[in-house]
Amino acid sequence: MNSCTLQRRAFLLGSSMVAVWMSSPGRAFGLTKPVSLPSERVRSLIARMTLEEKAGQLTLAFAAYAGAAVAAHNPAQAQMQVDNQREQVRGGLVGGIFNGRSIETSRAMQTAALASRLGIPLIFGADVIHGYRTIFPVPLGEAASFEPSLCERTARAAAIEASADGLDWTFAPMVDIARDARWGRSVEGSGEDVLLGSDIAAARVRGFQGRSLRDADAILACPKHFAAYGAGESGLDYNAVDMSELRLRETYLPPFKAAFDAGALSTMAAFNEINGVPCHANRWLLDGVLRKEWGFEGLVVSDFNGDLELIKHGIARDERDAARLAIMAGVDLSMASGIYLKHLPDLVAKGEVPTDRLDQAVARVLTVKERLGLFDDPFRRLDLQRAKKVTGTPAHVALAREAASKSIVMLKNEGTVLPLPRSGKKIALIGPFSEGPHDLVGPWTVFGTDQECVDLATGMRAAMSDPTLLTVTQGSSTTIPLDGGIEAAVAAAKEADVVVLALGEHQRMSGEASSRGQIVIPEPQQRLAEAVAATGKPIVVLLKNGRALVLEGAVAEASAILVTWFLGAQTGHAIADILFGKASPSGRLPVSFPRDPGQLPYYYAHKPTGRPAESKRYTPFTTRFIGLSNTALYPFGHGLTYGDIAYEDIAVISANDGVTVGALISNRGARAATEVVQLYVQIVTASLTQPVRELKAYRKIELAAGGSQRVSFQLRKADLEIMDADHTRRFEAGTFKVWVAPSAEADGVSGSFKL
Ligand code: BGC
Repeated sequence: MNSCTLQRRAFLLGSSMVAVWMSSPGRAFGLTKPVSLPSERVRSLIARMTLEEKAGQLTLAFAAYAGAAVAAHNPAQAQMQVDNQREQVRGGLVGGIFNGRSIETSRAMQTAALASRLGIPLIFGADVIHGYRTIFPVPLGEAASFEPSLCERTARAAAIEASADGLDWTFAPMVDIARDARWGRSVEGSGEDVLLGSDIAAARVRGFQGRSLRDADAILACPKHFAAYGAGESGLDYNAVDMSELRLRETYLPPFKAAFDAGALSTMAAFNEINGVPCHANRWLLDGVLRKEWGFEGLVVSDFNGDLELIKHGIARDERDAARLAIMAGVDLSMASGIYLKHLPDLVAKGEVPTDRLDQAVARVLTVKERLGLFDDPFRRLDLQRAKKVTGTPAHVALAREAASKSIVMLKNEGTVLPLPRSGKKIALIGPFSEGPHDLVGPWTVFGTDQECVDLATGMRAAMSDPTLLTVTQGSSTTIPLDGGIEAAVAAAKEADVVVLALGEHQRMSGEASSRGQIVIPEPQQRLAEAVAATGKPIVVLLKNGRALVLEGAVAEASAILVTWFLGAQTGHAIADILFGKASPSGRLPVSFPRDPGQLPYYYAHKPTGRPAESKRYTPFTTRFIGLSNTALYPFGHGLTYGDIAYEDIAVISANDGVTVGALISNRGARAATEVVQLYVQIVTASLTQPVRELKAYRKIELAAGGSQRVSFQLRKADLEIMDADHTRRFEAGTFKVWVAPSAEADGVSGSFKL
């Protein structure tokens, strides 16, 4: 931006908005980014607003009608809270409401907002993470589909249901890269890989926001949590992050950039600090990188009380100081804490927060409301009739089944125990996740419930020609043994031809504030598995999990293992589709399953060392643990099908501006299969060390029994760039190794090229 443009903007925007920019670190870095002008409507509103009304617009209130349980417990008190909130709205002191659970009450709130002095409509937000009423697989599970267009379709369906039922805004997608499986919120993201994570981030944004934000069935996306929330020390939630800027930019920021490039107009600050600065007070991140460098024009919302928590982080003296630090860093909208409403008017009146920073934040909030069409029709997404019509439609239910089926990953299938025959065999279904309306939706859904989902036993019975051949035995609860449970399970196993063992984590063992130190099957269930295995019957393990797990003993040694995550509405039917061979497994791990919790954080795209453990045998003075291989038990990208897939005949053709890599993929099996063909590259020598392998492309192909297909990928020099020490992406000429392979640690077929 030249100085002439700057002066014109200064005139139009108000001089101190530009003053903020002129003195910003972004400018000092030589970064430039023009800011779009607020509309005439927005500017004229801001000109008429009082300080209190402005602070109100920057306040996102937790819905007084968020908890049905509270309302049932004490209806009078619940009503009083709703009345108080409506009064606040009527006074123009609330900009938006989140996680409300009643469209009628939201309509009443919107009516109150329109009756306020300036009649500015509210924005309604909520956590619509993986479906609204029709619940799709948890995001980590869905990432296993390696099919961004599927993620786009489920996000679209969620937006259609949520938008009719009163929501303008979802606090999703979570795009945090997660490489430490102890972190409970791994379940909400797309796993460990930058490329897959970025593709899915963009796809989900497109799905939520639809063709135009103005459309009544579009909802605003909010990629979160900005930034590096998935990198907390020891996988502990909210924990500090200390990392190089290079790592941050190479690994943790790209999915956000992809989401913003796809049009996301909001983001949420992360709870954690990065290198001593909590994200809610991180001006370099929120203003420098996000605004000045990337040109983000949407709004930044705090996480729940994240601004207030600056006190406990130890950088704000009190609430007032916390509000000042957060707004000055670039947090526009304060979620839950109420400290903007309480302190911003005084902070601005005393000159501690410039009026123009306040106005800038208000302009962003109002502009987003305008882009959502809320000024034209504040009730466009509060449409009871439409909600009834579009919720839980057969198309959404079918999509839930498709998505769930595509999320399942088959880790092993010895002696082709799977698929099971639909008739003629007695099946003992054993384990805490066998039946009942629990642990189906996953750790975090505001609206969908387990009661609305199909459980495993129901799905299996529906698929069997003779459902009486199925017995169901709980055997153990998730973390506590059941009296006589093991004995009953062993007896059932002895009676059966095959055992299906449904084991794993209940849904409060992942999600927010649910990190685990030992990512293993809880002990009572492991004991159950050992006892059942001792019967000698073939065992199919169905894992219920919100993260990568470490598998041991009878679980690891089962004849077949399927990863089934939390699959949502159609759980039972989708698992049955795979178990009985109606669909061939096609999911691939979006996170590596390590051999031992001590390997964490474990991810395939790690750096080499000067002493890599190159041999499978123990070699002294190499990078490995004592008595433990340094590989994954099941690496990123792994997943089997009912086919028998072979990789052959690699062809690597390099030209001036890039390379084409092709391989022949064949299905030598007797059943059709879907294969996810993956292209990995290692940059052998560069000015900075590079990962041992990095996913550069992937393609899902259908192969008939006995069929084959030549798959080729093209990489341009831009795809092979590295980030240099100055954080600039550039291509460095050299030698590159390349693999076309079925996982990040499989050999597949490989070659090399120079460019
Ligand atoms: C979570 C956010 C979520 C917010 C509102 C917070 O605790 O970190 O991801 O959007 O609550 O429910």
